[in-house]
Amino acid sequence: MKTIGVLTSGGDAPGMNAAIRAVVRSGCENGFRVMGIRRGYNGLMYGDMYEMNLRSVSNIINRGGTILYSARSPEFKTEEGMQKAIAVCKEMGMEGIVVIGGDGSFRGARDLSLRGIPCVGIPGTIDNDIACCDYTIGYDTSMNTVMEMVDRLRDTSESHDRCSVVEVMGRKAGYIALNSGIACGATTILIPEVPYDFERDVIERMRRTQKTGKRHFIIIVAEGIGGTQEMAKRIEEETGVETRATILGHVQRGGSPSVRDRVVGSKMGCLAVELLKKGIGNRVVAMQKDEIVDFDIFEALNMHKTIDMNVYNLAHKISI
Ligand code: ADP
Ligand code: F6P
Repeated sequence: MKTIGVLTSGGDAPGMNAAIRAVVRSGCENGFRVMGIRRGYNGLMYGDMYEMNLRSVSNIINRGGTILYSARSPEFKTEEGMQKAIAVCKEMGMEGIVVIGGDGSFRGARDLSLRGIPCVGIPGTIDNDIACCDYTIGYDTSMNTVMEMVDRLRDTSESHDRCSVVEVMGRKAGYIALNSGIACGATTILIPEVPYDFERDVIERMRRTQKTGKRHFIIIVAEGIGGTQEMAKRIEEETGVETRATILGHVQRGGSPSVRDRVVGSKMGCLAVELLKKGIGNRVVAMQKDEIVDFDIFEALNMHKTIDMNVYNLAHKISI
């Protein structure tokens, strides 16, 4: 019987469990022995894994996080670490691995594929920052969490005529900030992809809306911009509007996955197994224009994706 493995690596994301479930269930149905590898590449290097069956993935589709746990594993990036992982794969007769994670994890999958262990990557990160994918598992849930949290902040900001500066995650990317900013009706959204001018894009915008009667404000700042506390202080000094800063942090990574993350995770998990069944490795499963497709990992890692400026402009056009 052919043995395959599945692991989750890098930051956890809601919907990873749906993908694991799909890999395990479709793997078992296709006659594979499926090994669940714990804590990403750490588990692969140290043989921390167990055989999964149809029931190992019961009652997980609704759960955030990852039942396989996740880790960042600097040792795996060294040649010595890589060789440890390959030795374990050989010992276990592992003929393919599904790697659920971000593009760092895909680099690891590429390196393993190059050394004869076919890997298929599934994009799992709240940041939506993987170039070959329009959508990554966890992004939708995370944005919904941001929206819910900012709605709460809006209640208190409105009650006190305050400004709320909210920093959201996304590493170097502004996708979470931009789209949740639209959903929250933010006055200004600052993202690393678009240079901004503090006076023009924050202060002037606030003053303009103040003139039309607005008394409370939501400013969304992507973590790639940073400086949220200082920005709040400066806003209060320059506008006289009492201002509070909130850094939402890891609440954005947790929670029960949305419909979209469960469905996309399930579809991607099944396609990854189909590829391994055909003996195809070194691929990344991706969503493009609402279709689930796959790419060569090298090709995927060399792609670039840009923020849609129409969406950015629309956000600010209607925030007046
Ligand atoms: P993400 O997968 O979310 O981008 P990281 O960048 O932290 O998260 O990567 C997760 C893990 O993938 C790292 O801890 C490391 O084990 C592995 N990895 C990252 N970059 C590389 C690389 N260039 N080569 C090999 N493995 C890598
Ligand atoms: O990649 C997901 C993410 O949550 C980023 O948005 C954030 O920059 C980073 O991970 C936080 O990493 P850690 O969990 O190691 O603090």
